[in-house]
Amino acid sequence: MREVLNELERRRTEARQGGGERRIAEQHRRGKLTARERLDVLLDEGSFEEFDMFVEHRATEFGMAKKRIPGDGVVTGWGTVNGRPTYVFAKDFTVFGGSLSEAHAEKIQKVQDMALRNRAPIIGLYDAGGARIQEGVASLAGYAEVFQRNVLASGVIPQISVIMGPCAGGDVYSPAMTDFIFMVKDTSYMFVTGPDVVKTVTNETVTPEELGGASVHTVKSSIADGAFENDVDALLEIRRLLDFLPLSNQSPLPEIETSDPWDRLEPSLDTLVPDAANKPYDIKELITKTADEGVFFETQEAHAKNIVTGFARIEGRTIGIVANQPMVLAGVLDSDASRKGARFVRFCDCFSIPILTFVDVPGFLPGTAQEQGGLIKHGAKLLFAYAEATVPKVTVITRKAYGGAYDVMASKHLRGDINYAWPTAEIAVMGASGAAEILHRKDAKDREKIAEHAKEYEERFLNPFIAAERGYIDDVIMPHSTRRRVARALRLLRSKDLSNPWKKHDNIPL
Ligand code: HXC
Repeated sequence: MREVLNELERRRTEARQGGGERRIAEQHRRGKLTARERLDVLLDEGSFEEFDMFVEHRATEFGMAKKRIPGDGVVTGWGTVNGRPTYVFAKDFTVFGGSLSEAHAEKIQKVQDMALRNRAPIIGLYDAGGARIQEGVASLAGYAEVFQRNVLASGVIPQISVIMGPCAGGDVYSPAMTDFIFMVKDTSYMFVTGPDVVKTVTNETVTPEELGGASVHTVKSSIADGAFENDVDALLEIRRLLDFLPLSNQSPLPEIETSDPWDRLEPSLDTLVPDAANKPYDIKELITKTADEGVFFETQEAHAKNIVTGFARIEGRTIGIVANQPMVLAGVLDSDASRKGARFVRFCDCFSIPILTFVDVPGFLPGTAQEQGGLIKHGAKLLFAYAEATVPKVTVITRKAYGGAYDVMASKHLRGDINYAWPTAEIAVMGASGAAEILHRKDAKDREKIAEHAKEYEERFLNPFIAAERGYIDDVIMPHSTRRRVARALRLLRSKDLSNPWKKHDNIPL
């Protein structure tokens, strides 16, 4: 008996060694943790249960029959994060560069299937060299099986990817279909084809960082939702994110204790909006002063900063916040901001997370670059996302709500449940000077007259009351009572019951 037990221990120790001491040391030298070290940080202490640690590849070509390493380049299993279950897989770069073989893919598929069947989130940690070159088409098949499962799980369980090293070729598309991608600064990069192939095909010389580092994907491409300083920071932040999310689309919203009174008043908000209409202010101040304990988990912070998205809590329950940011491009909606907002709204709707929208938007961004870049279609994405969402929608207009952007930003007409405006709100087709110039074209050269007309328009239309008279605004509220009013509205809406007509799926303008 003892011998058998010793044999198990020997095999386990061998499997935990991954690619061996030399490769582990190299991983550490590069500032990266190993796959198992990462899971130790991500999961509650002692909660990780590993599956398939003895799985080996079945390849024989290119001398592979003699190179077998238990685990085959990916560590899989489940554990808990603050007591709630989550499935995990972590690519082990020390074993064949974390590359994906048929057996490696089967291990991932197994935890994907379990996560979906048992309705719990799945988190993938990436640090890998793409398809196992020695396995050819078996590796491609393995990827496609993983992709298929990503799609079936989409909208049913949260799927999160963290890129913690190379993520190239076949490895990029599974994360791309998950709900969130986070990266680690300086050590991670993502691209379909690497610098060598780029050089051959387009004759461009680029570094991995320039092609697909965190700075590219968090700012420009918007592929990644955030980037963190190092492995430990990234994994601790993923724990924070997970705390906001329900386990599945049929699970209740997580609720955590809070000592922040739901009816806390914030007198400083009464002077948040400056007297001058074109003066910016930071919408994040309103967000943090409204949220429980000022806690806000921002997504896509570095991309399309003219719109702010992220998670917060009210009365301990998760909400998604979407807010125009007057500090950046006056909070205008452009293509990037519309896509960013739309994807976030759709995530919240999938998982029954109520949406709080703060509106201060001068309209859609004019110009050839925007129009030729598809502003109509991208703007429609946000409009579509808000209109199809059946979750509780609470909207607060702080200042401008002009034109089509008024309609789009969770207006009453898109089934906004409770729509508030501050007394400083300006709900109109456009700003005063633009309106005066169109309505009084004959006076266009007389600046004084135009200013007079603008003043007249401003007094008549730039307020919340015309919309309130029609019931488009449910109430005009004092800024200092925003948290109290929002909390009451969300409490009322906990029993909201609304569904869309049956359809196979909709056809959002992609
Ligand atoms: C097999 C691989 C591998 C791969 C790396 N290794 N990538 N083994 N298949 N795809 C092995 C190396 O042989 C090496 O083994 C170990 O992993 C570490 O790799 P290094 O090259 O020494 O590390 P580093 O210098 O850090 O470079 C990492 C890297 C590079 C940038 C990821 O290895 C690389 O470019 N790999 C190939 C990437 C690639 O082209 N993948 C295929 C993409 S095509 P030893 O034994 O020496 O430690 C693809 C198509 C799928 O994925 C499409 C599906 C839709």
